[in-house]
Amino acid sequence: MSYKNILVDTRGAVGLIQLNRPKALNALCAELIEELNAALDAYEADPEIGAIVLTGSEKAFAAGADIKEMLPKSFQDVYMEDFISRWERVTRCKKPVIAAVSGYALGGGCELAMMCDFILAAENAKFGQPEINLGTIPGSGGTQRLTRFVGKSKAMEMCLTGRMMDAEEAERAGLVSRILPVAELLDEALKVAQAIAAKSLPSVMMAKEAVNAAYETTLTQGVRFERRLFHSSFALEDRREGMTAFSEKREPQFKNR
Ligand code: CAA
Repeated sequence: MSYKNILVDTRGAVGLIQLNRPKALNALCAELIEELNAALDAYEADPEIGAIVLTGSEKAFAAGADIKEMLPKSFQDVYMEDFISRWERVTRCKKPVIAAVSGYALGGGCELAMMCDFILAAENAKFGQPEINLGTIPGSGGTQRLTRFVGKSKAMEMCLTGRMMDAEEAERAGLVSRILPVAELLDEALKVAQAIAAKSLPSVMMAKEAVNAAYETTLTQGVRFERRLFHSSFALEDRREGMTAFSEKREPQFKNR
């Protein structure tokens, strides 16, 4: 399938999706979101793919929702089409999705990165929820996910002032897992994704599901959910292989990667 606003490329067992609307700093127009969703559908359905990397350009991961596209919309328009609901496809992806963020991740761009499983940031990354400067508020989970990532005080300050956070502050605050030199970001993201893809996919999916449950439930329910998934991993052939390989001091040969 050919796309106008994204580039896709398969690297080994990793599906790479690159947002590619350079003239608008990868602003997330409706067509781009539909293409992103189609690419995620394709990689999710592809048994050869074990992990996905989502990235942008060096200057911008994404500068947010497309302001020019939103400008003429009325309340009735956005309400009737349930504007933004199509953006959440990435949260339903069972395979891991790593956001490799260089440059601006603002508004919907920051929200899209936060919907991924973890964020690797380049040294020049800048995160922010500047919607307040447009007379509106974050609409794709920013007030909720940013608060869970960095706590109320910093999330509130960012949503009320529109201030941007640089990569170091984002790492200190727990928004990103690691910072990398700009030139190394994509290679490292692909390397991490490849390493994940080499593991047993069912157990990767279970780990992802269990960590994500931490955001949706109480500690007691979350731990119980984890325990059930842990128990069910004992039904996997790959679990027996993993433990056998450890005992025999060799690398595991997982069948379900
Ligand atoms: N929507 C549409 N176009 C955008 C855009 C956006 N979010 N962000 C940048 N662009 C366009 C600019 O209009 C400009 O296009 P033209 O050359 O045709 O004028 C081009 O991209 C380059 O942008 P700048 O000239 O502004 O580049 P800069 O380097 O001077 O500034 C920036 C970079 C600070 C990111 C600035 O572009 C900016 O502030 N962008 C808007 C950021 C923003 O407010 N995002 C939130 C959007 S609302 C949202 O996301 C709602 C939600 O929660 C879902």
